[in-house]
Amino acid sequence: MSRREFLVGSGATALLTTLPGFVTQAAVAEPQPMRHFSLRPGKASTQLAPGKYPMTPVWAYNQSVPGPQIRLIQGDRVRIAVENALDEETTVHWHGLRVPHAMDGVPHLTQTPIGSNKHFVYEFDVPDAGTYWYHPHQRSAEQVGRGLYGPLIIEEREPITVDRDVTWILDDWRLKSDARISDDFANRHDMSHNGRIGNTVTINGLAPGNFRVRQGERIRLRLINAANARIFALNFQDHQPQIIALDGQPVTPHEPANRTVVLGPAMRVDLVLDLTGDPDTRFTITDTFYSGLEYELIDVVYGPESLRSNALDSPIALPANTLPEPLMAGITRHQIRFNGGMMGQMMMGDGNNMMAMMREGKMWFINGVAASGHVMDPLLTLERDQSYLIELINDTAWHHPIHLHGHSFRVVSRNGKPTPHQEWQDTVLMAPEEQVEITLVADNPGDWMFHCHILEHQAAGMMGIIRVS
Ligand code: C2O
Ligand code: CU
Repeated sequence: MSRREFLVGSGATALLTTLPGFVTQAAVAEPQPMRHFSLRPGKASTQLAPGKYPMTPVWAYNQSVPGPQIRLIQGDRVRIAVENALDEETTVHWHGLRVPHAMDGVPHLTQTPIGSNKHFVYEFDVPDAGTYWYHPHQRSAEQVGRGLYGPLIIEEREPITVDRDVTWILDDWRLKSDARISDDFANRHDMSHNGRIGNTVTINGLAPGNFRVRQGERIRLRLINAANARIFALNFQDHQPQIIALDGQPVTPHEPANRTVVLGPAMRVDLVLDLTGDPDTRFTITDTFYSGLEYELIDVVYGPESLRSNALDSPIALPANTLPEPLMAGITRHQIRFNGGMMGQMMMGDGNNMMAMMREGKMWFINGVAASGHVMDPLLTLERDQSYLIELINDTAWHHPIHLHGHSFRVVSRNGKPTPHQEWQDTVLMAPEEQVEITLVADNPGDWMFHCHILEHQAAGMMGIIRVS
C-alpha cells in the first residue's frame, strides 16, 4: 500500500494523527487544559509524487509538508513553541481562529518577527470548534508557496457520528521539470493577474492517487485550501456531499450550489460525504473552476467489502459556536472598495497615485491605498462590541478571497440578494465586480489585518487594517 493510500484510506481519526506528516505531539496524554506543540520552520525536502518525481527542496514545519496536524478540543488552551530554523524572519498566523491580538502572528503589527534561530511561544484558548490552518505571515507569498502551512483542527465537544474524519489540505505548486520549485515568487505578471497559479496540485503534500472507501461509509471531509492563488471548484459527480461548515463555522447542512464545492485560497469547507456506490466501483472528483482547465483531482475507489448497504441517517448538523450575533437594528454601515489589477492592457486603479504606486510594485488598492508592510493607518475604526455592516465592492476584473483577522463575519448578501445560509466566514470569495455585505460584532480589540488571500495580491498592496478599539 502506498503512503498516499494509507494516508487517505486509514481506518480512524486516531490513526491519522500518528501518520507521517500528522505527528501530533499532544497524542502523548497531557492533562488538559494546556496542550503543548512545537513547530520548527526550516529547510527540508519531500517527494510530492513518489515514484514519479525526484525530491523537491521545500520550506516546511518539522520537516514535513503539510506541517504537523495540531488537533485540539474546543475550549482547550494551547501553547505552541516556534523555533525558526529558516535563514529569514518568520511568524505563525492561526488562520480563522479568534485569538488575542498579541497571538495573531502578524510581523511588526502584533509581534516582532521571529529572527533566524530565534524562538517565540504562542499561547491562547480555542473558543470555536472547526477546521482551521496555520501559516507564516512574513513574506507569505514565498514562505507559504515553498510549503510552510499545516492543519489546525478543533474538535467539537460532542462531534457528529461519522465513520472517518479526514482532512485534505490542498496546495498548488509551480514546479520546474526537475521538480524544483520555480523561484519566480511575486513576479509582476502574477501580482497583477490571478496570482501564482501552479502546475502541480497536492493533497496533504502528495500528488493524489486513489482514495479508498467502503460502501455505506460516511466521511467527514475537511477541505483546506492552502494554495497561494488557485481557487478550487470540486465536483463529486453523483455523490452529492452536504456542506456542514464553512471556514470552521457550522452552517445548516446543504448541498453545494451548482453541484460544486468552491474554495478560494485560505477557505475551508467541511463536508459529509455518504459513499453510496456499489463495491468495486469508482468515481472521480474533478476541479472545474478555471474554464478550459478542468482536471481530474482524485479517484474515489470502493473496496470489495461493504460497510452498510444504506447510508447512515444520524444527524449531521454541528452545534453552533458562540459567536456574538450582530444586531441589525441601527447597525452602523461602512463601505470598502477594492481596485487595481490588469484589465485588458490597462492597470485599473486610483488615477493619480497609480503610476507612482506601480513603480513600487503596488498593483492593488483598498479604498485607493496600496499597503506596503503590515503597519498603516486603519481603513476603519470600529467601536468595541458594536455591530457593523460592511459593504465590500470588488471594482476589479478578478476574484479576491478577502480575509479579516480576529473575527468571523456573516455574509448576509451578494449583489443585493440575501444569501440563503447567512454563513459565517473569515474569508469571503468575491467574484469580479461583485458586491458583498458582511456583518459582525467588533468584539476583539486590536489592529487587525484585512487582506486578499491571493498572496501575490496581498504582496502587491491589497491589504489594510481594521481597528477595533
Ligand atoms: Cu491566512 Cu492574513 O492570513
Ligand atoms: Cu486578490
